[in-house]
Amino acid sequence: MERSSIKDLKNKIGKSVKISGWVDARRDHGKLIFLDLRDAGEKVQTVILPEKKEVHHLGEKIRPEWILEMIGEVKKRPEKMVNPELLLGDIEIEIDKIIILNQSKTPPFDLSTSGYEVDEEIRLLYRYLDLRRQRLQKNLKIRHEIIKFIRDELSERGFIEIETPLLTKSTPEGARDYVVPSRLHPGKFYALPQSPQQYKQLLMVAGIEKYFQIAKCLRDEDTRGDRQPEFTQLDLEMSFIDENEVMNLIEEMMIKIIEKFFPNNRILKRPFPREKYGDVIKNHQTDAPDIRNNKSNNAELAFLWVTDFPLFEYSDKEKRLVSVHHPFTSPHLDEIEMLDKFPKQIRARAYDLVLNGFEIGGGSIRIYQRDLQEKIFKILGIKPKVYNTQFGHLLEAFEFGVPPHGGIALGLDRLIAILQDEPNIREVIAFPKTGDGRDLMMNAPTEIDKEQLKELDIEIKKKKY
Ligand code: AMO
Repeated sequence: MERSSIKDLKNKIGKSVKISGWVDARRDHGKLIFLDLRDAGEKVQTVILPEKKEVHHLGEKIRPEWILEMIGEVKKRPEKMVNPELLLGDIEIEIDKIIILNQSKTPPFDLSTSGYEVDEEIRLLYRYLDLRRQRLQKNLKIRHEIIKFIRDELSERGFIEIETPLLTKSTPEGARDYVVPSRLHPGKFYALPQSPQQYKQLLMVAGIEKYFQIAKCLRDEDTRGDRQPEFTQLDLEMSFIDENEVMNLIEEMMIKIIEKFFPNNRILKRPFPREKYGDVIKNHQTDAPDIRNNKSNNAELAFLWVTDFPLFEYSDKEKRLVSVHHPFTSPHLDEIEMLDKFPKQIRARAYDLVLNGFEIGGGSIRIYQRDLQEKIFKILGIKPKVYNTQFGHLLEAFEFGVPPHGGIALGLDRLIAILQDEPNIREVIAFPKTGDGRDLMMNAPTEIDKEQLKELDIEIKKKKY
């Protein structure tokens, strides 16, 4: 007999079926033993009758999270036993045969609840168990569906997905780099990308015109509820466009995603309002305001475009001007002449997308002229020798006919967490890190052995930690 998926059992009333999965719950009523069986899609109630002596005997010792293969008949439940809250609440399986495929220790926490009540460190330590809970299964599924939708939608619009390297050189996005030592080039290091920013611009030089990528980004910064050291962006870039075309594309796609997957949510304002940075700060004292009427109601989705950011801001820490977005962002063209004299007054052709008080995306129209790019580096206090070493490849590429271009990146973890009404992005990431950047399940980061260090020509200073 072929295995049936539990979700398909509704159409098999009166038939004998084989199902397999995990025991979700067990209720022993003495005569009747009920075992809820769960597979990746659904769960169903099964019942062992007392007259099935051998099976009943087996049923007495079965415990939650054991893995069973069961053969039985799909029956309609008596009217008063129907559970309207479950998809399969009107059927049960009368079991004829059970094969125990595997046993399980008692899980360290309850898997049948939402899990919010369980200490998160223990959940992360046993993440493979935590992920069995329905809430997280749903989060992973919707994440997959949204990403698939984005891939299909952008492909239809003529974008192509291109992978860019993880072993690369630093791209400044305002955080520290994670670095990887090179064995073949002792003393040298790759940097893991904070975003594919430079690569996507170079793809525009390469004549790609419409690029996207579901891209992993790595940033060594302090982790918070909406920040992880590695996270996922929908990264895209287009040639021969202006800011409106980027914003309209994202807006159309957002609306489609919400209409398709979250039909009960309401978008507060359409088209999404656009406000200039200066006004946003004046009116809300933050650049990512929550403009919902009722801020505790996540069924309401308040998108807001924030535009016209300043190009630079003064960093007290670094004692110099720094880019508000990144150094590849174009200034407003009619303000270029003021760059030298009044750099802090120059506006950037940048835009952020805010949803319910969280920045879910940011992008800009880029600089595509070598001299302007060099000028920006100089205003940022980067010496020619340094910017030529760090960004010489980009500056040189700009001499080979680069089209005007721009793009955006959406933080997919943040977007999905908000849409799923989750309190932080860890709930929508399969294997997230803790607040201090550890993977508790894998126990990373760890020391590496002496041999590895030797090969890399690296010495660890006498242990201070
Ligand atoms: P930016 O740095 O603004 O832009 O990143 C884009 C979006 O990514 C999300 N995000 C994060 N999500 C989770 N954890 C983090 N540590 C984290 N950091 C950022 C945010 C943010 O809006 N290369 C540019 C994009 C461009 O100019 O096209 C960039 O990376 O939602």
